[in-house]
Amino acid sequence: MSSSEEVKAACKCLLGVLVLLICFFLSFQNHKPKCYITDLFVPALNTYTNSSTTRANTFIFFDLKLENVMPFNGLRYDNVNLTISYNYGGDRSALFIPIARHTVPGFYQGMRKTAHKRDVTTTRGVPWGDAFAAVSNGSTAVFRVDLATKVKSKQYFWYAKKQRLTVGGIVGVGSAGLKENNKANRLR
Ligand SMILES: *[C@@H]1O[C@H](CO)[C@@H](O)[C@H](O)[C@H]1NC(C)=O
Ligand SMILES: *[C@@H]1O[C@H](CO)[C@@H](O)[C@H](O)[C@H]1NC(C)=O
Ligand SMILES: *[C@@H]1O[C@H](CO)[C@@H](O)[C@H](O)[C@H]1NC(C)=O
Repeated sequence: MSSSEEVKAACKCLLGVLVLLICFFLSFQNHKPKCYITDLFVPALNTYTNSSTTRANTFIFFDLKLENVMPFNGLRYDNVNLTISYNYGGDRSALFIPIARHTVPGFYQGMRKTAHKRDVTTTRGVPWGDAFAAVSNGSTAVFRVDLATKVKSKQYFWYAKKQRLTVGGIVGVGSAGLKENNKANRLR
């Protein structure tokens, strides 16, 4: 080996050690996941059907997306508590009344994985008259989704400290009973 080859080999080795060290330190991350509502469907607010069966359907269908952003850590979720509220009168600063509570059972999520929790929840006390009037006249019915859970990241053979995660966001629903705009709503 010439001396320049030796230097090259030493550099490669050093680079390897550096990359390993970076990976090692990155694997101690404890970041919270990103949460989104990608879909929300309220059949009773679909103004394009006129059947008493849809009117009587007071369920809300949702798709909750949970994204583990950590490159080297799995994530353990406690039960995920969801609260859906309705904004009376569509004035977003006004009162939100809770109309549904739902629990997504806790689960484990691998590193860099995205989970979709699609489910349907029963509702209680939605002012359907107000909501239907809103979607009928071209404005939106305004809902709010709040999420509360605890997460802990997996680090080799043990778990990091549990962290509380509470996020929420507004979801507008239009005349088809569907979430307005195609982009997922981030819960912050
Ligand atoms: C829905 O049906 C009712 C009674 O059958 C009728 O009075 C009303 O105009 C209909 N509405 C629409 C939007 O078609
Ligand atoms: C539509 O209806 C909602 C709820 O009744 C009301 O708050 C809003 O002012 C109405 N908007 C228009 C443009 O009529
Ligand atoms: C979720 O709801 C359950 C039951 O009401 C409660 O015991 C738990 O503390 C809640 N979790 C969070 C993180 O708020």
